Amino acid sequence: MFLVHPAKENKKDVKLFGAVQISDTAFLVYKNSDGRVMLKTGGDEKLQKKAVKNMLEKNPAVKRLLDKYRIRPSINTKTLKELAGGHMNETCNIAKGVYEILASSCEPEIDEATVKEASMLHDLGKILIPSKILNKPARLNKKEREIMNIHSTLGYELLKNQGVRKEILNLIKYHHQNLNKSGYPDFEEDLPQNLPLGMQIVSIADKYSALREARVYRRKLSRIEALLILYKEVREGKIHNSVYKALVKYASIYDEEV
Ligand SMILES: [Fe+2]
Ligand SMILES: [Fe+2]
Repeated sequence: MFLVHPAKENKKDVKLFGAVQISDTAFLVYKNSDGRVMLKTGGDEKLQKKAVKNMLEKNPAVKRLLDKYRIRPSINTKTLKELAGGHMNETCNIAKGVYEILASSCEPEIDEATVKEASMLHDLGKILIPSKILNKPARLNKKEREIMNIHSTLGYELLKNQGVRKEILNLIKYHHQNLNKSGYPDFEEDLPQNLPLGMQIVSIADKYSALREARVYRRKLSRIEALLILYKEVREGKIHNSVYKALVKYASIYDEEV
């Protein structure tokens, strides 16, 4: 585990879990006593530049990916703050709820903490995606879509050298994969034939969380609208029926907003 600055935020009940080696203060991952993973950012522009340089040196696979897609390396801390405080946090809440509902009737092969930590970090790779693509108020073109789709692999590569467990790394890498393997990136051979339950949970939590948020290109969808869209994915073979049912149960209990 690479440790940097046990910063001021590191209060009694909050432990430093790890850090992406971006800079001393640019990006830290904390974990509090109930297992919640939190992200903190900081640093001025000069520090950020140094951070990017360090990060590329320590993560050659990230550099290769950015070079391949001609992405200028820079860390979007605004994106990180938004993701950490919003979408990734919400995905974590949903994944936890879905996990617990499923675990009440079966024995998942994965533990809850792993699912929560992966959910909290799943979109980390987006901090390297250019904001003009990330925040484009219209449908992405083919090239932009290709770039957007590398964020899950980028997140995996960013965390690979940080002592993050392989189980968590795989959930991050494949959070856009579907039950029928129609998602991305392609599954590697060493992974099981069937999409593991943990991946299915993070994936459905991510989808539901995204649909329930306003995006620059669309309004926030209602609970029913979001569930209907995901039901279509069940019929297409992208989502397992029992995982979907657990989400519906979660939404009926915890998602009170229409
Ligand atoms: Fe994602
Ligand atoms: Fe996401």
